[in-house]
Amino acid sequence: MARTQLLVLLAGLCLAGSDAFTQRSFQSKSEVLVTVQQDRWFMQRLDHFNGADTRVWEQRYFMNVSFSQSGGPVFLMIGGEGAANPAWMTQGTWIIYAEKMGALCLLLEHRFYGKSHPTNDMSVENLPYLSSRQALADLAHFQTVMTENLGLGDRKWVVFGGSYPGCLAAWYRIKYPHLAHAAVASSAPVKAVVNFSEYLDVVQESLARNHSDCPGTIKMASDTLLELLDYKENYGKITKDFYLCKLLVIRSKMDMAFLLDTIAEYIMDVVQYNNDNREFEGVKGGNMTINVVCDIMANESFGSPYDRYVEVIQRIMKARKEKCIEASYQQFVRDMSNIHWEGPASSGGRQWMYQTCTEFGYFQSSDSVFQPFSGFPLSYHVQQCTDIYGLAYNLSMVVGAIQQTNENYGGLNVQSSRIIFPNGLIDPWHALGINTNLSSDLLAFPIEDAAHCADMYPARPEEPPMLPAVRRDMYEQLTKWLQL
Ligand SMILES: *[C@@H]1O[C@H](CO)[C@@H](O)[C@H](O)[C@H]1NC(C)=O
Ligand SMILES: *[C@@H]1O[C@H](CO)[C@@H](O)[C@H](O)[C@H]1NC(C)=O
Ligand SMILES: *[C@@H]1O[C@H](CO)[C@@H](O)[C@H](O)[C@H]1NC(C)=O
Ligand SMILES: *[C@@H]1O[C@H](CO)[C@@H](O)[C@H](O)[C@H]1NC(C)=O
Ligand SMILES: *[C@@H]1O[C@H](CO)[C@@H](O)[C@H](O)[C@H]1NC(C)=O
Ligand SMILES: *[C@@H]1O[C@H](CO)[C@@H](O)[C@H](O)[C@H]1NC(C)=O
Ligand SMILES: *[C@@H]1O[C@H](CO)[C@@H](O)[C@H](O)[C@H]1NC(C)=O
Repeated sequence: MARTQLLVLLAGLCLAGSDAFTQRSFQSKSEVLVTVQQDRWFMQRLDHFNGADTRVWEQRYFMNVSFSQSGGPVFLMIGGEGAANPAWMTQGTWIIYAEKMGALCLLLEHRFYGKSHPTNDMSVENLPYLSSRQALADLAHFQTVMTENLGLGDRKWVVFGGSYPGCLAAWYRIKYPHLAHAAVASSAPVKAVVNFSEYLDVVQESLARNHSDCPGTIKMASDTLLELLDYKENYGKITKDFYLCKLLVIRSKMDMAFLLDTIAEYIMDVVQYNNDNREFEGVKGGNMTINVVCDIMANESFGSPYDRYVEVIQRIMKARKEKCIEASYQQFVRDMSNIHWEGPASSGGRQWMYQTCTEFGYFQSSDSVFQPFSGFPLSYHVQQCTDIYGLAYNLSMVVGAIQQTNENYGGLNVQSSRIIFPNGLIDPWHALGINTNLSSDLLAFPIEDAAHCADMYPARPEEPPMLPAVRRDMYEQLTKWLQL
């Protein structure tokens, strides 16, 4: 379970979170807000690309009309690869904008995530209805019907999203320019790639920003871990060091890769979300920043580089209130193969993995030499597609599918207008995003020292110094575009 949550996290989840995170936020201070925000339901078509298929289902959405003024815009926040979190209906940068601009705010949960279940289960027969193309068409139908029902005919729509939904925001403007007036595509990896080895290149650069020795020390530690794994006698020690849920068993290359990937993901996660302000969503452990990790990695009083690494992983787990690491690949495949809506990976793990295998790739391989980890090559990631969804989901299928995605949306070759692309520069995902201005109204806002989707979260004093100015510039830009 811990592992399947992590997978979703690394997908780049900004908005909301897995069910586990949502539950945590229910217990925290957003409890009051959660009860205020009622679930609303929209009758949606199952298949937008076959007029003869009239099957429908209920899609969840949230609405905040408190700021809405006649003539003001409509803001649509796009849900992503996890349950939609109602905390977003009262907080975040878009809410500040909505207050100033008199916007009506809507958040549409993504099909197949959260409570939005288009099919009886998540079998491989049903999962083809899970795609970004269907999700964009959901947005179009939602906008069309809501415009009619709420009498919003004279209002301009602006779409927002972060990470995968950031892509959806840009793509919605690209594919449905008659519906979306403008888009804010935060930390959007608009270029799909099978082998996303640059992810770890950026992890290395970000770790080294304030601590040039940090990646080297982590490399020494992960090399030691590899050596320890050569001998079965060490498995007990490794189990204890990394708080594994069960005694480590390695029967195959996949078992080995899974362990190494799972541990490395703790460091990737620290980098991706460094010093951000996701706490209002119920996320824990945000105080484990790059600076904290690299200070420990440099501190000899904790022992060898390996011992320091163990200290780091243990502290991250404690800060997140995680008890143990589920390091069994077999268990992982079993969880991810469960097709039921109540299954152990149903909060997004099974769905998002399907989207990566059939649309985006984004596989964070350890194939580059400019990074501190080893042991989880591209083949390990692609093998997961076949192990979980079946033999047809092999490398040649994945490569072809990812090419189709870039052919459909254009990848980095964005042909459109009125889109803003903010990207935190320590966030590994910026490597697949738009970081230079493509025209006078396709604008990049690269943000020094900021992490994944940092521009979307509520402001706070400790945040990277560029953020307030970026939020202001984006606001001014949107204001200008809304006058057109
Ligand atoms: C809308 O958001 C504002 C600001 O957080 C909040 O005070 C208000 O209760 C919200 N309204 C609804 C209907 O959720
Ligand atoms: C580097 O250190 C400064 C000062 O403590 C901090 O503001 C900044 O966020 C750090 N950058 C990274 C990437 O950790
Ligand atoms: C190293 O860690 C020890 C134990 O936590 C701490 O007392 C000491 O201040 C640290 N040293 C440095 C240079 O941060
Ligand atoms: C982070 O927060 C946890 C839980 O609140 C706490 O136990 C830990 O000491 C904190 N770590 C740092 C580096 O501030
Ligand atoms: C993935 O990309 C890296 C860096 O470009 C390259 O060295 C490696 O060979 C690639 N892996 C595969 C399996 O193509
Ligand atoms: C992948 O599967 C297809 C059809 O199932 C098959 O034709 C192809 O040879 C396979 N490719 C690889 C690389 O295994
Ligand atoms: C893109 O243009 C905007 C508006 O002129 C500007 O604020 C921003 O800094 C530019 N971005 C880059 C990467 O030059």
